[in-house]
Amino acid sequence: MNYNIAVLPGDGIGPEVMGEGTAVLKQVAELYGFTVNLEPGIVGGASIDAHGKPLTDAVLNLTKQSDAVLLGAMGGPKWDGLDYSIRPERALLALRQELGLFANLRPVKLFAALASASTLKKEVVEGTDMLVVRELTGGIYFGEPKGVTMLPDGTERGVNTEVYTTPEIERIAHVAFQAALKRRKKVTSVDKANVLEVTELWRKVVTRVHKKEEGYAGIELEHILVDNCAMQLIRNPRQFDVVVTTNMFGDILSDEAAMLTGSIGMLPSASLGGKVGMYEPVHGSAPDITGQDKANPLATILSVAMMLRHSLDQGAAADRIDKAVEVVLDEGYRTADIQEPGCKLLGCKQMGQLVRDKIAKG
Ligand SMILES: NC(=O)c1ccc[n+]([C@@H]2O[C@H](COP(=O)([O-])OP(=O)(O)OC[C@H]3O[C@@H](n4cnc5c(N)ncnc54)[C@H](O)[C@@H]3O)[C@@H](O)[C@H]2O)c1
Repeated sequence: MNYNIAVLPGDGIGPEVMGEGTAVLKQVAELYGFTVNLEPGIVGGASIDAHGKPLTDAVLNLTKQSDAVLLGAMGGPKWDGLDYSIRPERALLALRQELGLFANLRPVKLFAALASASTLKKEVVEGTDMLVVRELTGGIYFGEPKGVTMLPDGTERGVNTEVYTTPEIERIAHVAFQAALKRRKKVTSVDKANVLEVTELWRKVVTRVHKKEEGYAGIELEHILVDNCAMQLIRNPRQFDVVVTTNMFGDILSDEAAMLTGSIGMLPSASLGGKVGMYEPVHGSAPDITGQDKANPLATILSVAMMLRHSLDQGAAADRIDKAVEVVLDEGYRTADIQEPGCKLLGCKQMGQLVRDKIAKG
């Protein structure tokens, strides 16, 4: 079997972590008897520098023709002053829209060895294992009208619009319920139904999908307001199994949930919905540590595992990667972002190499 993978390292630490991710991918391909054709593409700030825009048609076509897309991170202070329409992060939004990736899956699982690396107490975070399902192509990040207009009195008025339609809510609800069937069979839908009409609709539609589909009868569904959810995440994260929410609430809550695991450098993600899935670490381009070999490559390596599982049907190879990461952490190896007293501190490259060594050992 041969798979075409579009590899888009992006900016900042993107190329550093991607180097380790693709090295692991090549290694497991050889071990499990398939081949990968890695097709590189320039996106984000790097593309602005080279082509004047964050995503070229050529790179977009490359992603559309691939079996899956691996993405690093985009953005950085160099491009912060640019107009929103051509900022590096626009490439991310465009890719999600063009590839029809309406569901973002972010597993938040605490590796036992990292329980004391979290800023929260060990007894609070221990056992955390949830999946945040974030709607990705609708809501306030895309709704119209939007923009900033000048008023007659010389002041300005900024507007963004939160919009959801029934089909948009139904399809993301199905993703959450389907995921819950393979997990602990609980879905928590997060909204602000007491204030926002659009999320009143969200709650109504999620409830209807749950009731209508016979196969979902064994799943517990609860609704929770976003402010309460933010609180419950740090009070008792073990109560959550699958959390489904809107684009903006998901953006914020998944970063909060990320901190339960000790570092954003540990979290992989998958964006699904269309023909081609896109896989990326949750973190950004981390300009503060770029070029210093300090980045944690594990989120990217775990994103490769998600890609193998969800897009390439290579579950055994994915399990082997997950296991290797667990062993490395159990043995006390850490990058700077998750370091603790007595650990063995490694750089990005060393961490990638060590994971490959463990994979080789099986
Ligand atoms: N998906 C994306 O491409 C994406 C996501 C978020 C932010 N961004 C962009 O990235 C740039 C920086 O954003 P930010 O600073 O808010 O978020 P960030 O995730 O880049 O960094 C936040 C903090 O976490 C640390 N960190 C992040 N990833 C790490 C890793 N793998 N290993 C070790 N430490 C890590 C950073 O050093 C920093 O201290 C901005 O331009 C932002 O727009 C891009």
